[in-house]
Amino acid sequence: MATFRIKRYNPEKSPDSYYQDFEYDFPEGATLLDCLNEIKWTQDGSLTYRMSCRSAICGSCGMKGNGHALLACQRQAAHLMKDGVVTVEPMGNMTPIKDLVVDFKPFWEKIDQIKPYLKNKEKPPEKERRQTPKQFKVIDDASTCIMCGACYSDCQMLEVDGNFLGPAALAKAQRFVGDSRDTATLERIKELSQPGGMWDCTHCGECVERCPKPVKPFDRIKELMAVGLEQGVHGNVGARHALSFTKSIKKSGCLNEATLPVESIGYFNFKGLFDLLPVGLRMLFKGKIPPLIHKSCEDVKDVKRIFEELGE
Ligand code: FES
Repeated sequence: MATFRIKRYNPEKSPDSYYQDFEYDFPEGATLLDCLNEIKWTQDGSLTYRMSCRSAICGSCGMKGNGHALLACQRQAAHLMKDGVVTVEPMGNMTPIKDLVVDFKPFWEKIDQIKPYLKNKEKPPEKERRQTPKQFKVIDDASTCIMCGACYSDCQMLEVDGNFLGPAALAKAQRFVGDSRDTATLERIKELSQPGGMWDCTHCGECVERCPKPVKPFDRIKELMAVGLEQGVHGNVGARHALSFTKSIKKSGCLNEATLPVESIGYFNFKGLFDLLPVGLRMLFKGKIPPLIHKSCEDVKDVKRIFEELGE
């Protein structure tokens, strides 16, 4: 027996959401979706949520269980119980429409923004454009995305910046940037390097935890960043930060915290540097300014060897 504490919302009746408890003695192996169906069919027919395949394929049944995004048809209710209670809420970073149904419009707009289709100016061959297994492997993980929105729901960057493209759109972008049949790599990377793009990811890794498939969105974002650096698209804070970081570690074995912010902002970005001034002054008054003369760490030889072995 478990209590399903479900967040309810019906704007036609009240502007406020509330939690409603349903008791249900679920059979062994029942998924959260099985339980919601049973509650809907036997206790309250007005309970609203999306579902279709019941096989973790269509991506419709995304919601939050105990505070984290998941697919209701993929997760067993028993694994979600905490002190006899399963808390069920709509996904985050999207506006609830009714009960557990959220508005996916911003999610789809961001997928559209990355132009999710092959671009190739060359004349098409008589039959299909072929790929080797090795070429497909580059986009294999990203291709498994079912667009359920779980990563988008729990992305911490999206919580503070609604303009961020988000993990799903960026993983989808990698699926095309890495596609051997697509010839718009540089054009795509330049667009993805704009504010709100790949460099705005905070590297929290939450999207990897929440993704119900092997997409691992953060890994795909790192691949996009690597392509950006390889393609020489360095005119943004994120790329300069990565380059400065690498340069400092390679040279001295440790981070030069005095030059990192300045090199990240850009020596000739006067407005950006001016904006840094208040933070610098606060650090100065608190005695937290890093040493201006940067010393190498003791094991710098080992660090250099690692760089050589990895071919940077
Ligand atoms: S119902 Fe299709 S993924 Fe859950």
